[in-house]
Amino acid sequence: MKKGLFITFEGADGCGKTTQMKLLADYLKSQGFEVVLTREPGGKGLGEKVREILLNYEGEVSDRCESFLFLADRAQNIDIIVNPAVEAGKIVLCDRHIDSTVAYQGYGRGLDLDRIKMLNSLATNGKKPDLTIVFDIDVETSMKRVGSEKDRMESAGIEFHNKVRNGYLEIAKEEPERIKVVDACKTIEEVFEDVKKLADNYLFTKNIH
Ligand code: TMP
Repeated sequence: MKKGLFITFEGADGCGKTTQMKLLADYLKSQGFEVVLTREPGGKGLGEKVREILLNYEGEVSDRCESFLFLADRAQNIDIIVNPAVEAGKIVLCDRHIDSTVAYQGYGRGLDLDRIKMLNSLATNGKKPDLTIVFDIDVETSMKRVGSEKDRMESAGIEFHNKVRNGYLEIAKEEPERIKVVDACKTIEEVFEDVKKLADNYLFTKNIH
């Protein structure tokens, strides 16, 4: 039976992860793999509606409510999109996943990290990505890339985004086998060289072809 794979893309707003995910999808397809792209929040259907609320709702949102909405979307993405595709032997690339909640709601908003991790585990049924790439970038550069039209999360301020960045680096230290950090300040082509190396290396070590 073919082995499926679940790879997640993480990092600050404006870090370039979505562009890199699409480049990796094209590369993997050119190597003959079946690739499925998804994202959190908002893989498809119900997830899109949750995303709309999370990014554009203008009223007050409590930090715990925000967390549960991200987690609800995650459960849906895992059950409806990720697991069926991985079980069918496909490579699933997901734009944000569990580590976003630890970085943004845990480190950023200051919610209890152990609780967030426990809730993540409920949302995913305990499954973790096979490989996670964190795109590290300083907040000044990432906010410049985001530009002046910011959504609800992007408007959370420099201090918040610094905590998120440091959060990602802490998470990466805790799970060095799964989580790899790349320098996202470089050009798109240079960053993609690093991403391709990581993916190739993973596929080679796990004997996936
Ligand atoms: P993006 O899809 O453009 O990256 O935007 C999603 C936003 O939602 C981004 O600011 C990060 C944030 N987010 C969280 O705060 N927690 C989460 O669990 C997830 C998945 C995203």
